[in-house]
Amino acid sequence: MATYKLELKLNGEKLSAQVLAHENLLSVMRNKLGAKEVKNGCNKGDCGACAVLLDGKAVNACLTLALQANGKEVTTVKGIGTEDQPHPLQESFVRHGAIQCGFCTPGMIVSSKALLDTIPNPDRRQIREGISGNLCRCTGYNKIVEAIEDAALKRKS
Ligand code: FES
Ligand code: FES
Repeated sequence: MATYKLELKLNGEKLSAQVLAHENLLSVMRNKLGAKEVKNGCNKGDCGACAVLLDGKAVNACLTLALQANGKEVTTVKGIGTEDQPHPLQESFVRHGAIQCGFCTPGMIVSSKALLDTIPNPDRRQIREGISGNLCRCTGYNKIVEAIEDAALKRKS
């Protein structure tokens, strides 16, 4: 089967891979580019665990063809903050206990980052809307909403 060269920037690093025309970005990220932090929850657009920023916009990597990312910048949770220099959202999730099993967390952080980049001071309704595509089986969402709200306030102060 024919393959095509995909070139992109992943968390600031230029990478390339040979991909099939129908391969989704999630599969390529995890299996060819080593980005295991992008989670595969449902592989059909239901859970948001695979959310990444594509040129700054949050997308579900399972619903994005890998070749749609050609020439673009992809940011995962690892590109948002590091262990040494966590993003305020990451600190806030820890502080508020907004992480339990952690499976949804990479996608939650990506969606929250996209939200705060668009609406720096969201109200609770806007926060809930911003993460409405992200499912969490553990936390009941309240701690996640509080964490995002607190991160927005801390960024403002
Ligand atoms: S794995 Fe992509 S939305 Fe669930
Ligand atoms: S912390 Fe377990 S799914 Fe969200």
